[in-house]
Amino acid sequence: MQGIKAIEWANDRVRLLDQTRLPHQEVYLELDDHLQMAAAIREMRLRGAPLIGIAAAYGMALAARHIQASNMQVFLAQLRPITEALASTRPTAVNLSWALERMTLVAEAAADPQVAQEALVAEALRIHQENAEANRRLSQHGAQLIPAGSAVLTHCNTGSLATGGSGTALGVIRAAWEQGKLSRVYHSETRPLLQGARLTAWELARDGIPATLIADDAAGFLMRRRDAIACVIVGADRIAANGDVANKIGTYTLAVLASEHAIPFYVAAPTSTIDLNTTSGDQIPIEERSAEELTAFADVAVAPAGTEALNPAFDVTPHRYVSAIITERGVVRDPYAKSLPQLFQQEGVRHA
Ligand code: MRU
Repeated sequence: MQGIKAIEWANDRVRLLDQTRLPHQEVYLELDDHLQMAAAIREMRLRGAPLIGIAAAYGMALAARHIQASNMQVFLAQLRPITEALASTRPTAVNLSWALERMTLVAEAAADPQVAQEALVAEALRIHQENAEANRRLSQHGAQLIPAGSAVLTHCNTGSLATGGSGTALGVIRAAWEQGKLSRVYHSETRPLLQGARLTAWELARDGIPATLIADDAAGFLMRRRDAIACVIVGADRIAANGDVANKIGTYTLAVLASEHAIPFYVAAPTSTIDLNTTSGDQIPIEERSAEELTAFADVAVAPAGTEALNPAFDVTPHRYVSAIITERGVVRDPYAKSLPQLFQQEGVRHA
């Protein structure tokens, strides 16, 4: 997407697009410290696993600039609670702890606090830039899986508003569109916060990609219509070592439906979303958000007062439903317990 920067380091501050105001208003926020950043992540002013990781890295870089310490021991002691505050904002996306660990290693290697402050800014910028590059590469790999002339179905928002670049699933969709392969994108509204209706629709319209919004519940109807869609393609918040995938609530339903209709189900994610320390999806922490997100919409109640609601933000799709995982290092298939670790045995720096 041309010109949209979901997040940016500028003049020792972080500038970010407030996604809670989209699609109606393009409002940018300027943040100066990690507490503002932690609040922005928690309130979903920015969201999407890779973008959360980038934001947390910038949050640490912001905080480090405010630390006044005479030596590294004091500096690191002050940095620790800051890292913990950022890490606790949203539990499911592993990109968050991945980025914070990378930043911590950089701080620990610094000779003095001033060097550490500068190195942390440089590392956050690197994490951001690497993610943009990973998006580019995985999009090219993924586009090869899309048959010419096809329509695809995607869920949630996985584009420039969720990453440091063109996106994961949406990056693949963009690449397929540029290659003239794509006829249409169906995108689900993604209840309850409507990332599909508000954000994906906004991104696709800006790119001029033909798109059709469906209610989450209409996916089965669409898949039953012969040849309506060639594949489902989604992003991920965490991929366990066995290939189980945590992603936006409703993803599991789509995967089961896709399997029933013999439609390929693809997951696109950078390798920073793969968590080899988590053996299966059962171990992935699932964020539960407030009941009010379901019982009210735009501050108007849609359920009787006192209605109890369960609001998991993510679900886990067992690996048997995942036709392939598309990363910047290539496309892997089942058995994932074998193919995912092989991605990390390749030479080179791990990309965000
Ligand atoms: O709750 P959100 O909006 O942060 O959830 C986002 C998703 O589930 C995305 O599909 C995932 O983070 C991948 S984004 C490239």
